Amino acid sequence: MDGSDGIIMDSRQIVLVTGASSGIGKAAAELFAKSGYVVYGTSRHGRYETIGPQGAAFTLLPMTLQDETTVQAAVKYVLSRHSRIDILVNAAGSGIAGAVEETSADEAREQFDVLFFGNVRVLNYVLPAMRAAGRGLVINVGSVASFFPLPFQGMYSAAKVALFSMTCALRVEMKPFGVKCCQIEPGDAKTNFTARRVLTKKSRNTAYGASFLRALYEIERSEMAGKDPAHYAEAIVKAARMKNPPARICPDFQYRALRVFSSILPWRAFEKVIAAMYLTKDPPHGWDLKHCIGGQQYYGRIESHHGTAQLPCISGPSGVGRDHRSAAQSGHGRAVSDELSAVGVSGDAGSREKGRDVGAGHLLEHAEKSAARHTDHG
Ligand SMILES: NC(=O)c1ccc[n+]([C@@H]2O[C@H](COP(=O)([O-])OP(=O)(O)OC[C@H]3O[C@@H](n4cnc5c(N)ncnc54)[C@H](OP(=O)(O)O)[C@@H]3O)[C@@H](O)[C@H]2O)c1
Repeated sequence: MDGSDGIIMDSRQIVLVTGASSGIGKAAAELFAKSGYVVYGTSRHGRYETIGPQGAAFTLLPMTLQDETTVQAAVKYVLSRHSRIDILVNAAGSGIAGAVEETSADEAREQFDVLFFGNVRVLNYVLPAMRAAGRGLVINVGSVASFFPLPFQGMYSAAKVALFSMTCALRVEMKPFGVKCCQIEPGDAKTNFTARRVLTKKSRNTAYGASFLRALYEIERSEMAGKDPAHYAEAIVKAARMKNPPARICPDFQYRALRVFSSILPWRAFEKVIAAMYLTKDPPHGWDLKHCIGGQQYYGRIESHHGTAQLPCISGPSGVGRDHRSAAQSGHGRAVSDELSAVGVSGDAGSREKGRDVGAGHLLEHAEKSAARHTDHG
C-alpha cells in the first residue's frame, strides 16, 4: 500500500545487501527474501531489476563501492520507497594477492577502497536513517583473515582487520541509538571471489618463487573446495534474528578453534601453523601463475568462471568438488592438525565427525570450549 508521500507502507523488515549479484551477498539476499524480508541488493551492474528465483526475488540496484554518488543513490532509492533500512549487509568485496613487497601503495589503496572505505561510504548514508529510526542492524562481512593473516594476501587481511576494528567501535557508538552491528567471518567459500582475485603487477614476475606459487595454489584450492555461500547466508540471516548479535560471528568450528589458538599460542608457534597451511605444499607439477584462476586474467585464458570455476591441473581428491567430509582430515584442517602436533598440541583439530574424544588433546579440549564460548562473543 502506498502512503500519500509515495512511501510504501510495509510491516516487513527492509534489508539492503551490497554485493548481491553473486556469492555470499547473493545467497544472503535470496535467503532474506525467501524468509519474508523486503530485499534490495546491489551490484556494479544493477539496473533496478528484480532478480533471483521465484519466492526469493529481490531488486538489484547499481552501486560501485568506490563511487560515492552511486552509493548515495542506492541508499536514497531504498529510503525514498520505505523511509527506513532495518538491516544492512555489507557483503560486496574483492581481493588482491601478492607479497607485501610486491604490492604498490596504489594497489593497497585500491584494496582498502573496496573493502574498507567502500563500507564506510555505505555506512555514511545508511547510519543516519537507522539512528533517526532508533533501530537497525549492520552486518559487515569480514573474513577469518581478520584474525588469521594470510601470506601473500597481506593487504586483504589488513583491510579485514581494519573492518573488524571499525565494527567494534561502531557497536559502542551506536548502542545508545538502538543500532546494532556485527561482523560475520567466513572461511573459504566457493564463489566468484577466486576468479576475480587480482594479482599485483609485480607479482607476475615475483621474486618469491615457490612460496608465492604454493600460497596462491593453496588459497585457490581451498576456496574451490570451500563451503557453499548458502552456509554463510544462513549465518547472516541467523544474526539478523538475534536480539543482541555478538561483535564477531565465525560460523565454522575449525576457524573458531584457530582463533582461540591464535590467542593462546605464542605468535611464533601460530606462524608455523600459518606457514604449514600455505607454504609447504607444492602445486602439481607444471602449475604456475598462468594456471591460477586469478592469473588467467593476465594471460588471456579467461573463460566464464561463473559458478563453475575449475582449478586447472587439479584432479583427484584435492580437486574441486572433492568429498569435503572433514576439515581436520584434509586440506587446511589436516595441516593445522599436523602443525599443532609439531608445536606440542595433540588432537584432531576440528574433526566433527570423529567426535570429541578421539585424539583430542588437553589443549584442544580447552580451545574447543573457549571456541564455543567465543562463538557468540567478540
Ligand atoms: N569467498 C571466500 O572464500 C570468502 C572468504 C572470506 C570472506 N569473503 C568475503 O565475502 C564477501 C563476498 O565475497 P564473495 O566470496 O561472495 O565474492 P563474489 O562472489 O565475487 O561476490 C562479490 C560481490 O561484490 C560485488 N563487488 C565486487 N567489487 C565491487 C565493487 N568495487 N563495488 C561494488 N560491488 C562490488 C560483486 O558484484 P558485481 O561484480 O556485480 O559488481 C559481487 O556481487 C567479500 O567481502 C569477501 O572478502 C569471501
